[in-house]
Amino acid sequence: MDTNSSSSILVQKLSEAGQSHLLHFWDKLSPDDQISLTRSLELMDFGEINTFFKKAMETSASIKEKMDTRMEAVPRDVLGSVTRDRDSVKDWELEGLSCISQSKVAVLLLAGGQGTRLGSSYPKGMYDVGLPSHKTLFQIQAERIVRLQQLAEQKHNVKCCIPWYIMTSSRTMSSTKEYFAQNKYFGLEKKNVIFFQQGMLPALDYQGKIILESKGKPSMAPDGNGGLYRALGNQGITDDMEQREIQFIHVYCVDNILVKVADPGFIGFCVKKGADCGAKVVEKTNPTEAVGVVCKVDGDYQVVEYSEITLATAEMRSADGRLMFNAANVANHFFSFAFLKDIVQKHEPRLQHHVAQKKIPYMNTEGELIKPDKPNGIKMEKFVFDIFQFAKNFVVYEVLREDEFSPLKNADSQDGKDTPTMARHALMSLHHRWVLNAGGHFIDENGTRVPAIPSLKDGTDLPIKCEISPLVSYGGEGLEELVKGKEFHPTLTIDQDGIHELVKNGV
Ligand code: UTP
Repeated sequence: MDTNSSSSILVQKLSEAGQSHLLHFWDKLSPDDQISLTRSLELMDFGEINTFFKKAMETSASIKEKMDTRMEAVPRDVLGSVTRDRDSVKDWELEGLSCISQSKVAVLLLAGGQGTRLGSSYPKGMYDVGLPSHKTLFQIQAERIVRLQQLAEQKHNVKCCIPWYIMTSSRTMSSTKEYFAQNKYFGLEKKNVIFFQQGMLPALDYQGKIILESKGKPSMAPDGNGGLYRALGNQGITDDMEQREIQFIHVYCVDNILVKVADPGFIGFCVKKGADCGAKVVEKTNPTEAVGVVCKVDGDYQVVEYSEITLATAEMRSADGRLMFNAANVANHFFSFAFLKDIVQKHEPRLQHHVAQKKIPYMNTEGELIKPDKPNGIKMEKFVFDIFQFAKNFVVYEVLREDEFSPLKNADSQDGKDTPTMARHALMSLHHRWVLNAGGHFIDENGTRVPAIPSLKDGTDLPIKCEISPLVSYGGEGLEELVKGKEFHPTLTIDQDGIHELVKNGV
């Protein structure tokens, strides 16, 4: 490196931080690569990175102990359930719809992840799981917002809007923005779809040294979905919310194909309870399901991962026969604006990074790219739910898994759950049930009525092929006039142009 003053400051900064190895290949880099490495290093706060590493390693060492004795299940008085409190659901929905009609509600999408397991080269929200319409996750969510705005406007006879804040990372920002622009924001107004970018952190080896992914490039990853809180502050998003007089925010993850964006029932329940923070959950029924559960730990709410409890605790049951710790987190949260602002302004620096051990490709000192077959370093991430501990009035809203939760995590080629096929089936099966509930029926190619409960064919539980545009129905409403007393051949699709039947094609 030459010795002009800015370079020597950088060299000194690196040396003080114990990160001088980042310049190991300096002399072998082209002038352009030297400029780009210098730029990326100048943007890094090495003091902060080293502190994050130290604290994250300390925290991860201290949480080796199991949580069991410190845990307490969600008390009934903070819990609202769509099955157990069925009589109240209508009231909650009306309350939520009223808040939406007053433009007090915003949605906040977490879409900054890398989608490594799915393995697509573009943002996960642009993934097509193979529905008859070939709509992507982004399109389904956008159309649900459009429809919900209409429902609130019709009910209250006012114009309203649900601003959609979309968190991306430097890897997903430009393609996400381009995709929305190309698709004219799926019917939403451009000014109400607000993109912002979360931060990135370098991957580190176990000694805290930043890993090089190539001779001139440190290995970087988004700082976790809890990077949200820092980004909300430094990208001016809380200011934007304040200007729009937003009071309630629904936060959710991009990968859930069934997500009820700005769910009026959830929002209404939280508002009626005067909550500052709420979590939507589904019932965990299998003790060994590897899912985080919402519960109290030493009196504060948090999500406890399956690995943090013993099997005996995971198997404990309440008097009603349900698992004691059964509130499975589905990364769907409610925040009052005042609470969110407080987090951003006061509490964010207190959130600790979690450590994820990963196999991180690296450049060795000989300049060879090594793809390790076991973990060789860490990525540091904050989690969106880390702020539950600061809530003064925390509530939990339990919904049905089959109606609201089917995340897309893995590719079809991998053996496992949460694949595109499972997401597609979950959506079609929900829409099938909507049609049945609205009084419609399905018939097969011989004209025989298909039983409501699908039979097992070739060992696979294939759903009836049915898809209803969110622009026609947000949550199953308004379908009677279209389907009641009628018989349909699958594939059935219902969109704004009407009802379409397409006999005999593959799922
Ligand atoms: P996951 O932890 O499942 O990560 O994110 P992912 O990126 O989707 O997939 P893998 O782990 O790389 O395979 C859950 C949600 O949090 C968002 C994701 O976009 C997804 O909606 N997320 C994750 C962020 O917004 N930022 C992050 O840094 C990480």
